[in-house]
Amino acid sequence: MNRRQLMMGTAALGGSLATQWPTPSQARAASAGQISASPREVLSLNAGWRFHDGDIAFPKVTGHGWTYANAKAGNAQGAASTEYDDSEWQDGIRLPHDFVIAQPLTRDANPSQGYRPRGIVWYRNLLRFEEADRGKHIEIQFEGIGTQATIWFNGTLIDHNWSGYNSIYLDVTPFVTYGGHLNSLVVRDDADQMQGWWYEGGGIYRDAWVVKRSATHIVTDGVFAHPIRTTDGWEVPVEVTLSTIAKSDQTITVTTDLLDADGRVVVSAQGNAVVKALQTAVLPLTLTCALPHLWTLETPYLYSVATRVVEDGRILDEVVTTCGFRTQRFDADHGFFLNDRHVKLQGVCLHQDHAGVGVAVPAALWDYRLTRLKTLGCNAIRCAHNAPAREFLDACDRLGFLVMDENRVFNPAPEHMAELQWMVRRDRNHPSVILWSVFNEEPMQGTEAGYEMVRRMREAVRELDMSRPVTGAMNDGLTAPVNVSQTLDVIGFNYQQDAYDAFHKANPHIPMTSSEDTSSYSIRGEYATDEARHIKGGFDTTAAEWGETHRGAWKAIAERDYIAGGFVWTGFDYRGEPTPYVWPTNSSLMGILDTCGFEKVPAFIHQAQWVKTRPVVNIAIHWTWPGREGQSIKVMVCANTEEVELSLNGKRIGRQRVDPFEMNFFDVPYAPGRLQAVGITGGKTVATTLCETAGKAVALRLTPFKPTLLGDGVDAMPVNVEAIDDHGRVVPDAAHMVVFTSDTVEILGVGNGDPNCLEPDKASQRSLFHGMAQVIIQSKPESVGMATLTAAAEGLKPGKATVSLEARPAPPLQVTEAPVQTLENWFRAPFADTAPDPTSRPGAGDNNSWQWFRAGTLLPAAGRTGFSLCAVSFTPFARGQRKGGQVNFFGIRGRAKIYIDGQLAGSKSDDTAGPLSVVLPAGTGERRLVVIFEATPEAPFGFSDVIQVASN
Ligand code: GAL
Repeated sequence: MNRRQLMMGTAALGGSLATQWPTPSQARAASAGQISASPREVLSLNAGWRFHDGDIAFPKVTGHGWTYANAKAGNAQGAASTEYDDSEWQDGIRLPHDFVIAQPLTRDANPSQGYRPRGIVWYRNLLRFEEADRGKHIEIQFEGIGTQATIWFNGTLIDHNWSGYNSIYLDVTPFVTYGGHLNSLVVRDDADQMQGWWYEGGGIYRDAWVVKRSATHIVTDGVFAHPIRTTDGWEVPVEVTLSTIAKSDQTITVTTDLLDADGRVVVSAQGNAVVKALQTAVLPLTLTCALPHLWTLETPYLYSVATRVVEDGRILDEVVTTCGFRTQRFDADHGFFLNDRHVKLQGVCLHQDHAGVGVAVPAALWDYRLTRLKTLGCNAIRCAHNAPAREFLDACDRLGFLVMDENRVFNPAPEHMAELQWMVRRDRNHPSVILWSVFNEEPMQGTEAGYEMVRRMREAVRELDMSRPVTGAMNDGLTAPVNVSQTLDVIGFNYQQDAYDAFHKANPHIPMTSSEDTSSYSIRGEYATDEARHIKGGFDTTAAEWGETHRGAWKAIAERDYIAGGFVWTGFDYRGEPTPYVWPTNSSLMGILDTCGFEKVPAFIHQAQWVKTRPVVNIAIHWTWPGREGQSIKVMVCANTEEVELSLNGKRIGRQRVDPFEMNFFDVPYAPGRLQAVGITGGKTVATTLCETAGKAVALRLTPFKPTLLGDGVDAMPVNVEAIDDHGRVVPDAAHMVVFTSDTVEILGVGNGDPNCLEPDKASQRSLFHGMAQVIIQSKPESVGMATLTAAAEGLKPGKATVSLEARPAPPLQVTEAPVQTLENWFRAPFADTAPDPTSRPGAGDNNSWQWFRAGTLLPAAGRTGFSLCAVSFTPFARGQRKGGQVNFFGIRGRAKIYIDGQLAGSKSDDTAGPLSVVLPAGTGERRLVVIFEATPEAPFGFSDVIQVASN
C-alpha cells in the first residue's frame, strides 16, 4: 500500500510536469527562439480552492496548555489552522474568483458598490511539494485579493495585506514541508472593508501562482530594463536584483540579452555579482542599441530583455521582460510628446469590472475592452483609482496605449508606501506607462499636510523610476498657499476646466493635463430622459453638476495646447456609483461604452473628435420609431469630415459644415426606411453610414470577438448577441430573454449594459437590452476542435456561434489536494521504565516536561528498554465524526500499542517499519490518539511518515 492508495479519496488536482512547461518568460523567450534551460517554474495556483461565504469566529482560547500552544508558530487556531475541517466548504473554486459578483443585487446593500453584499469570506487550499523541491526558493503570489487579507501557511500567520489592488509575494520556503506532509494555505478576506466608492468586487479576484526558483535567483519584479535615449543612441540600463537562500555567499554571473520582436539577439551584456547568503544584491548592466525600432502608438514595437543567472555554466534562473524604445516629455506650453512627436492625450478613466465577470477579468477580455476603445481613437487610459491587473498593462504595451498608472491609498505611512513602491517596481518596464499618479481628489490636497505627504510619495516613486513624472488628480486646493501642486511634476485637473487658464497663467512652467473630466450621463439606446424610470437619454445633454458634456469637456481641452489631454470619466460603464440614481439602478451611466462595451451616444462623439487617420461619420440614433410617422425626430450626426449630408429614403434632408466639437443635428420627419449620412471632405464623399428601420425580430445573431479560442481552459472572449429582423438589422426594442447553452465552452457570465437590470451576471441567460446582450465564454482545459454556443429565445430562430479551439496545454498547476486531516503535531511524555497510563497528560501549567515533535522523522534509539508515550488531540472532520473512519499511519516503526480515547485500538508487535491503520469510531468532539512505543535499546522508533485521518 502506498501513500496515495492510503489517502483514499484525496485526488490530486494538478500534477502536470511543471518542469516541462515553460514559464511565461520562458515561453516568450521560446517564441523568440531562445529556449531556456532555466529551472524556474511558474505554476498556476488557480485551482483546488475551497471557499466559505461568511466569517468563522476564532475559538476562544482557554487554559494554560492551549494558551501556551496558541502563541507558537504553526499553531494558528480555528479556520486558520492546518487541520481545520473544510471538507464541507464549497469546493472546486477556481481563481480568479470575485465572490461579490455572484451575490444577488440587494436593495439594502451599498449603492456605491453596486448593491451587492460584500462580507468576510475564507479560502483554503492544500499544497503538495515533492522532496525534489527541497532547496528551491518557493514563493506564493497573489495578484490581488479584495480587500483586506490575512494569510496563514501551515498554521503560521505570514501576511496581512491591506489593499485590494496590490500583489502579495510570500516567500514560504522556511515553512514548506515536503512529500506527504501537505501544506495548508488559508486566506481570510475581509471584503466588508472598502477602498473605493465604486464596485470593487471581492475575494481572490486575480490569478495566484507558485513560483519555484533556484536558491540563487532573480527576485520577483527584479529586472528593471527601460530604455533611455542618450546623445548618440539608446541604452537599456538593466538593473538586476538577486537573492539567495543558500547557506553561503554565492558568486554568480548575470547575462542579459536584448531580443528584437523576431527573437534575434541584438546586443548582450554580462557581469558578475556576489550575493550574500539571505541577502539581496543589485547588479547594474548596460545594453546599448544605436537604432532601435521605436515603440509608437501606431506601431507598438516591443523588445524582450532576457536576463539569466549563471553559475559554472549552469543557468540558475531566467527572467524575460518586455520593453519599448520611446521617449516621453510633458511640456508646459505644448502638452505631451512621444518620441518628440506631439500626442494629445485622448484618454479615458477605467475601473476594472466587466459584464458577466465582475472584477475577475480574464486577460483576453482586456484585449476586447482596449480594442473597443482603440476604434474610438482613444489613446490613453487612466487606471482609476488603483493599480491595474498585470495583463492590462501587457495589453496596453501591445496595442499602443499611454497609461496613467495610479495607486490607491494616499498615505505615506510605511505600509502604503510599500504598496506604491510595489506598483512602480512591477510596472516600470511597461512602455505604455507615462505617468505615476499618487492620489485622486484627496481632501488634504490644499493643506501643508497634503503637500508633505505628496512630497514623500513623489520621492518614493523617484527612488525607483526617474523617467516618468509624478502626478495627482486635483479637484480643489489649487490656489491654496501651500498645496500639493507645488510638489507634482504634472498637475492633474479633475473637472476644473474653468480653472485651466488662470492656473496656467499663474504657473506657466508647470505641465498640466485633465486627469478626469466629463461625467455626462447616457444609457445605450435611450434618446429621451425619463426620471421616473431612471433613464438618462438624449444626445450628451445631461452632465453631473460637477461635470461637463462630452463635447464641452473635450472642447476645453482640445482648444488649449498647454493641456496635455484628458481622461473622460469613463471609458466603460462600471458597476456601482449609479449617480444620480439609487435602487434599482446599480451601475454607472457615465461611460462612453456600456458595461459590455457597446456604443452609447458618446462613442460616436469621441470617435468623430478623436480619430484623425480616417474619415468617420456616424448617425447617433437608430431609425425604428413605429407610431411616430410624420413627427420630427432629432438626429445627431458625428463626423470628422468637413461637411455632412443627411438623406432619408434617397431624399436630401440637409447638408452642414461639420462642427467638430458640438456635432451636427438635423430635424427629420420620421418615415421608416433608410437614413443615410455621408461625410464630405474637399467636395468628395469620403465616408458613408446607413441606419435602417428594423422590422420584427425573427432571429438571434451571435458575434464572437475572435475566431479562435485557445483550448487551455484560460482563454476567454465575449460573444455579442443581437435580435435581428429578416434583413439582419438589429431590432432596438427587442427585450427577449436569451438562454445560452454550450457543451464545449464554459459560460462565465452574462450582461446587457442596462444599468437598471437586476438579473444575475453569473447565469446562462440574460434579457436583451435594446436588442443586445453579451455572454463571456471560456475554453475548457485540453479542448480542441470546434466550440459552439447557442442562444435561444422564445419566438426567435436560435443563434449559433462557432469558434475553433486551438490546442494549447493548460498552464501547469501547482499540485493541490482534496481536504485531508493530517496529524502533524505530537507531544511525547518523558521516557518511562514502565508502561504509562494511556490517559496520562502533562500536569496543569507544565510547558516543558512533554516534548513537541512533528510526525515524519523517527525518534532516536533510546539506548535502553522502556516506554515512550506519544499523543495528539484532534477533532475528526464532520463526516468522520458522523460515520467513523480510520487513522492511517503511513510509516510506523517499533512495537507499539495504539489507543483512541483511552481504548486500545490496535497494536504492532515487532520492530519493523510499515503502514498501519486503526479504526476510528464515530463520535463528536475532540479525540485523543495515544501511541505507546515499547523501545528496544538500539532501534530508532516512531513515525517515519505522515499520519492521516480518513472518514468512512
Ligand atoms: C470623481 C471621482 C470619480 C467618480 C466621478 C463621478 O469625483 O474622481 O471616482 O466618482 O467623480 O463623476
